[in-house]
Amino acid sequence: MLVAAQRDQKISMTFKSLLFSLGTTLLLAHSIKGDDDHAWIAPGPNDLRGPCPGLNTLANHGFLPRDGRGLNVTVILDAGFNGYHMQPDILALAAKVSLLATNDPTSFTLDDIKLHGNIEHDASLSRGDFALGDNVHFNETIFSTLAESNPGADVYNTTSAGHVQQKRLADSEATNPNLTNTDKEFFVRSVESAFYLSVMGNPLIGVAPKNFVQIFFREERLPIAEGWQRSETPINASTLGPLIRDIATQSNWTAGEGCHWVRLGPNDPIVRF
Ligand code: HEM
Ligand SMILES: *[C@@H]1O[C@H](CO)[C@@H](O)[C@H](O)[C@H]1NC(C)=O
Ligand SMILES: *[C@@H]1O[C@H](CO)[C@@H](O)[C@H](O)[C@H]1NC(C)=O
Ligand SMILES: *[C@@H]1O[C@H](CO)[C@@H](O)[C@H](O)[C@H]1NC(C)=O
Ligand SMILES: *[C@@H]1O[C@H](CO)[C@@H](O)[C@H](O)[C@H]1NC(C)=O
Ligand SMILES: *[C@@H]1O[C@H](CO)[C@@H](O)[C@H](O)[C@H]1NC(C)=O
Ligand SMILES: *[C@@H]1O[C@H](CO)[C@@H](O)[C@H](O)[C@H]1NC(C)=O
Repeated sequence: MLVAAQRDQKISMTFKSLLFSLGTTLLLAHSIKGDDDHAWIAPGPNDLRGPCPGLNTLANHGFLPRDGRGLNVTVILDAGFNGYHMQPDILALAAKVSLLATNDPTSFTLDDIKLHGNIEHDASLSRGDFALGDNVHFNETIFSTLAESNPGADVYNTTSAGHVQQKRLADSEATNPNLTNTDKEFFVRSVESAFYLSVMGNPLIGVAPKNFVQIFFREERLPIAEGWQRSETPINASTLGPLIRDIATQSNWTAGEGCHWVRLGPNDPIVRF
């Protein structure tokens, strides 16, 4: 009797540990493959999104909270690494500065970061200028400059990215009497161009397939089904620096009036230095 009970207990233990290790294996496979956690899901009516296609995409895939709320520096750095293989050195400043866009002292939302004069700027690649109405939502008319760039090739590169920036700025100069175009906006715009080339393409040479970039902007989706993969090369200041320099050179930029740096709070004016 005793022997039988012990044997039964042993079997039951073995079964449990088998179940446990099977569970662990499934969990591991699940987290590596990530099909469920990181599937693309369009934002619902109560989910917040904003002017950044990079962060919106991370939220649509669950690398950021899908509701677009409760963001802080840690949450952004983890999401950028897991989703795009971007290292903290190139994301930390934007994440820190975004805390100024809200009165909440420790977190911000994807909507908060639309604050004009914080990171948000004129002459964007896919959004309108603040003074002209909508600086938040994707606009196909604005995006057509990028979409149609580098004709005859099936990739975008630093040359085409620079030309796109020049054209987008010329459009804002022609239509927006409130245009702000200082070295701050020029720098941020050039970083953002280097970002789309890097996360959607090869960050070592700054070349990205057109269809990947278009899906990223238009659908705020990782084009995994189309063959995109997270960069094997970590994206950091070493990879980004040369791309930003080439893009900036090709954009033939000249400074506009004034020099401002940042909004220190959502209700504060633009501080001019
Ligand atoms: C995680 C990787 C990121 C990628 C791939 C990315 C990519 C981009 C791109 C391509 C744009 C240009 C959109 C346009 O001109 O139409 C942009 C804009 C923007 N990004 Fe990001 N970004 C990233 C991270 C961040 C972070 C960490 C922040 C702040 C927390 C941020 C805030 C913004 C804002 C406010 C804009 C709007 C600028 C404007 O067009 O006026 N981004 N981003
Ligand atoms: C950031 O948010 C995460 C998730 O809500 C939380 O666990 C973490 O403590 C927060 N970190 C900071 C520095 O606020
Ligand atoms: C545009 O500039 C004019 C003149 O400086 C100012 O009165 C107006 O408030 C500005 N509009 C916006 C949306 O910033
Ligand atoms: C998109 O941008 C164009 C060009 O600036 C503008 O005329 C149009 O009203 C914008 N569309 C929307 C839906 O805001
Ligand atoms: C970008 O592509 C165009 C068209 O193929 C080419 O003329 C140009 O040299 C390329 N630029 C770079 C930096 O490779
Ligand atoms: C960027 O990543 C590469 C490869 O991991 C590394 O050699 C380089 O030192 C990094 N650069 C910075 C600025 O962290
Ligand atoms: C670059 O800018 C200068 C000065 O504004 C202008 O004379 C020149 O035509 C521009 N070049 C191109 C290719 O647009």
